[in-house]
Amino acid sequence: MEKIDLENLKKQAQKEISKAQDLDELNQVLKSYLGKKSQVSLILKTLKNISPDERIRLGKNINKAKQSIQAEFEKRKQELKNIDSYETKREWFDVSAPGRKKETGHLHPLTLAKREIMLIFETMGFEIAEGPEVETEWYNFDALNIPADHPARDMWDTFWLKETEGPKSKVPNSRLLLRTHTSPVQIRHMEKNQPPIKIIVPDKTFRHEATDATHEAQFYQLEGLMVGRDISAANFKAVIQAFLERFFRKQTKIRLRPSFFPFTEPSFEVDITCVFCKGKGCRVCEETGWVELMGAGMVHPKVLENAGVDSKKNQGFAFGVGIERLVMMREKINEIRLFHSGDLRFLQQF
Ligand code: FA5
Repeated sequence: MEKIDLENLKKQAQKEISKAQDLDELNQVLKSYLGKKSQVSLILKTLKNISPDERIRLGKNINKAKQSIQAEFEKRKQELKNIDSYETKREWFDVSAPGRKKETGHLHPLTLAKREIMLIFETMGFEIAEGPEVETEWYNFDALNIPADHPARDMWDTFWLKETEGPKSKVPNSRLLLRTHTSPVQIRHMEKNQPPIKIIVPDKTFRHEATDATHEAQFYQLEGLMVGRDISAANFKAVIQAFLERFFRKQTKIRLRPSFFPFTEPSFEVDITCVFCKGKGCRVCEETGWVELMGAGMVHPKVLENAGVDSKKNQGFAFGVGIERLVMMREKINEIRLFHSGDLRFLQQF
C-alpha cells in the first residue's frame, strides 16, 4: 500500500487553495485533492487490504485531512465571492463604449403622405369622410350617373364580388364590388349631410388591371368635394393650387384641360408642371413640360339629385387623384410597385 504524508498533503492543498484566483480555478484544486482520481480517493479504495486496526486509524486521519481541506476550500470560496475584482471581472462593461442603436420602424410613406394631405386640407376647413371598400353597383356607378349600359363603365375595370346565397336585397343595383374610385363617398356623404359641404376622402380603391410602373390593382385615391350656393371652378383652382404648393413645397403651375367624367359637367383634367424638368420638357412629360395629375369637374346636377341635394340651389366641384402618383412625383419615384414591395431599401428612404 502506498504511503501518504497527510500533513504535507494538507499543507500543499492549503497553499494551492489560497492561491486560486477564481471559482473555476478553486474547483480544479479541490478536484485534484479530493476528486475521484485524487491520491486520497485512491488510498481510501485500498483500505480494505490492510489490518482492521490500521484501517481505522488511517481512515480517521484521512477523513480529518479531507475535512480540513474542505473547510479551507469553503473559506477561500467565500473570500473570492467577496472580492470586488472577481465580481467586476465577470460583469465588466465599458461605460464609455457607444450604445447599440435599436432599429425602430416608421410609418409607411403612403401613410405619411395621407396624414400630410389630411392636415393640409383640414387647415383649409375640409372634413375627412369615409365609405366602405366593398361597395354596391349603385353607389360606385349608377348614382354617379353611370348606368349599366353606359360605355363609361369601361373606364373602371371592376372586381365584382360573387353573389352570396340568401335573401336578395330589395335595394336596386345592390351587386357588390370593390370600389373602383372614392367617388361613391360623395353620394354617401351628401345623403347624410346638406351643403355647405367640404370633404376629402383619402382612401383605398381597387381596379382589375394589369400592373405596370404606374398602375396597381390596389391604390389610394384622394377625392375632394365642395358643394354650396355658388362654388365655382375658380374656387377649385384656388383650393387645388394651394394644396399642391404645400404638398410639393414649391411654386407649381397648373392648367385645366377639357375632359369627360359622367359625374361632372364640365369635366377637366388637371396638369401640373413636370417636377423632373421643371417644365422644360423631358422623357417623363413626353417633352411637353406638363404631367397629367387628376380628374376633376363641376358636380353633375344629376349626382346632386341622386344624393338628395337640390341642384337648383347648389353647385360645386369634385376631384380625384392617385395618392401614389402624388408621392411619386414629389419624391421622383418611377415605379409604383415599390410601395407594396416591402423592400426595406426603398422604405428606409422616407
Ligand atoms: C376617377 O377615378 C374619378 N373618380 C376621378 C374624379 C373624381 C373625376 C371626381 C372627377 C371628379 P380616374 O380613373 O382618372 O378617375 O382616376 C383618378 C386618378 O387615380 C388617376 O389620375 C390616377 O392618379 C389614379 N389611378 C387610376 N388608376 C390607377 C391605378 N391602376 N394605379 C394607380 N393609380 C391609379
